[in-house]
Amino acid sequence: MRPRKASPEAELEALRAEIRGHDRRYYLLDAPTVSDAEYDALMARLKGLEAAHPELASADSPSRRVSGGVASDFKPVRHAVPMLSLDNSYDEADVRAWDERVRKNLPPGQSPVYLVEPKIDGLSCALTYEGGALVRAATRGDGETGEDVTANARQVRAIPLRLPDGAPKRLELRGEVYMTFADFEKVNEDEKRAGHEPFVNPRNCAAGSLRQKDPRITASRRLRFLAHSYGVWEGGEPSSHHEFLARCRDLGLPANRAERFAEIDAVIAYFARFKDSVMPGLGFAVDGLVIKVDDFAQQRRLGFTAKSPRWGLAFKYPAQQATSTVASVEFSVGRTGTITPVAKVKPVFCAGVTISSVTLHNFEEIGRLGLKVGDRVLIERAGEVIPKIVKVVERAKRGKTIVPPEACPDCGSPVIKEEGRVAYRCDNPSCPAQLRRTLEHFASRPAMDIAGLGDSAVDQLVARGMVKDVADVYSLTKEQLLDLELFADKKADNLLAQIEASKTKTLDRVLNALGIRQVGEKTAETLAERFDVDGLLNASEEDLQSVSDVGPIVAKSIAAFFASGTGKRLVRRLRDAGLTMAKPEKKVVAGAPFAGKTFVFTGELSSFTREEAEERVKALGGKASGSVSSKTSYVVAGEAAGSKLRKAAELGVPVLTEEQFKEMLP
Ligand code: IVH
Repeated sequence: MRPRKASPEAELEALRAEIRGHDRRYYLLDAPTVSDAEYDALMARLKGLEAAHPELASADSPSRRVSGGVASDFKPVRHAVPMLSLDNSYDEADVRAWDERVRKNLPPGQSPVYLVEPKIDGLSCALTYEGGALVRAATRGDGETGEDVTANARQVRAIPLRLPDGAPKRLELRGEVYMTFADFEKVNEDEKRAGHEPFVNPRNCAAGSLRQKDPRITASRRLRFLAHSYGVWEGGEPSSHHEFLARCRDLGLPANRAERFAEIDAVIAYFARFKDSVMPGLGFAVDGLVIKVDDFAQQRRLGFTAKSPRWGLAFKYPAQQATSTVASVEFSVGRTGTITPVAKVKPVFCAGVTISSVTLHNFEEIGRLGLKVGDRVLIERAGEVIPKIVKVVERAKRGKTIVPPEACPDCGSPVIKEEGRVAYRCDNPSCPAQLRRTLEHFASRPAMDIAGLGDSAVDQLVARGMVKDVADVYSLTKEQLLDLELFADKKADNLLAQIEASKTKTLDRVLNALGIRQVGEKTAETLAERFDVDGLLNASEEDLQSVSDVGPIVAKSIAAFFASGTGKRLVRRLRDAGLTMAKPEKKVVAGAPFAGKTFVFTGELSSFTREEAEERVKALGGKASGSVSSKTSYVVAGEAAGSKLRKAAELGVPVLTEEQFKEMLP
């Protein structure tokens, strides 16, 4: 418990310090000590106090991150010192040649010590602190001039708004803004559920999030930042790169990790080892290592070429790429009618999988690539990211131009392009393809979890006109199901039992399942905590906006859904069908057996799906996480567990078998 402070001023400062501490533990130490909900409660208390005492406002209060202002329109900012780039090399011979050049250019008798850091695949950003306060954030741009993204960078909890005493008078810190794979996937799931185009990879997602008109969206994306260099350091400048990194950490600035080596052979051996033993545990995209001469006096001596420093080199892993030919382009219709072009390519093996279709996202992407059917293309698949076409490597002699369809490939209705939007859409609300996607989403595991209602069952039900909206699922009969291909007796019973069981799914699941635009899993959870169904049917946009995470656009979409005839009818029919739509119980039970414990599941479990195991942990008051850190209490290892086990061993986190975990369950 925070002790009660006598004056509001003192309480405000204590709250601000506490929140800064949580930001530090979350982003710098990767070891949070409070839940998101507890953090939100502290922030709400801070904002309440600040509203009651406007005279005690402070520009660098953590509350300023969520003030909801509008981002500046990304005005150009000239960098005080140009932001150069590094020379790239992909093979050992180049790296050895670079090492020889470094040695030759150092004074006789001197040898370099190399610091080797992950090359983070994010976007570079320069943060200017004056007198310890963050005054500007800028993207790299062309290296001379970047864009002012200060309002948005202030939303990034990993970026301190204020540095402690002892900070340089002026600091222009450079680093990478990036996103973890786990956060990227969450954002994309929400984007897809909200009927938006998913992002191609974490870098694009991070870049899109930093260059947002609405800083609240930036705030919701959990961007990370790691410092890797600086342009200006006025006052007590460090004398080596390792000292710079350590000083950053002392100032509460997240800094990149680095290893020291005296010999280039050791660097090369580390490069080989890093890819399999370190990189997988990092949880974010890294495309190589950066080798830097540690000593700044030596760096100055080596200097720069026109484009890049002689003291540093990027040693990159080749991206996992393959070439193939585009055989055709098909159009797939999403839940909200968005039409996505998909390139069908001659099957090709790349990064461990056979790729035969690659999403093209939208028609702008086709234009950017200048793609035609018949072209030979370079395909890239990085880590867990969906494959993409990088470029055309050989144009077809008589390539076929790809044009947007005029009619929906599924229902033949006219295709429209909304003002100011990139996507083409099928304008028919009863389009069977949209209905199929809607039903698939409704039945999906995080929604109503009706496993028997998979793609093929949905296809048949829609084709036969047995289901015209999600409420119809609840009037299906055994006779109807037995009439369908693939439905034998037992299978029909199973599906009906699953449909019956889904009636008790809590309101958060139902809200997610309904596929209301802009409402993903997380928003559905927050809404269900606050409102019951009747509350939602009657909520104004204003009421909805009082919920954290719900901005004006989301509120508008929710209010429109519940005010519409279709929305009202759907809710009534679901109720009549017997759906309880009860408010979810608070997940964390005080004094629960797993309270304060964090579990990470890895590998394949035999008695549970990973999601079920995580649900059990949460129901018992524990937390489930996707990545191992020093805060992890246990790693539960199933069959074929991999990098997370290694990380657990490295950090000394206890590892349990599935059996041992089961024994812990009441
Ligand atoms: S040092 C002269 N260290 O890679 C540039 N850069 O081509 C000195 N990057 O745009 C930068 N990880 O944003 C440095 N550990 C790292 C890095 C890194 C990623 C980016 C950087 C720059 C590009 C260099």
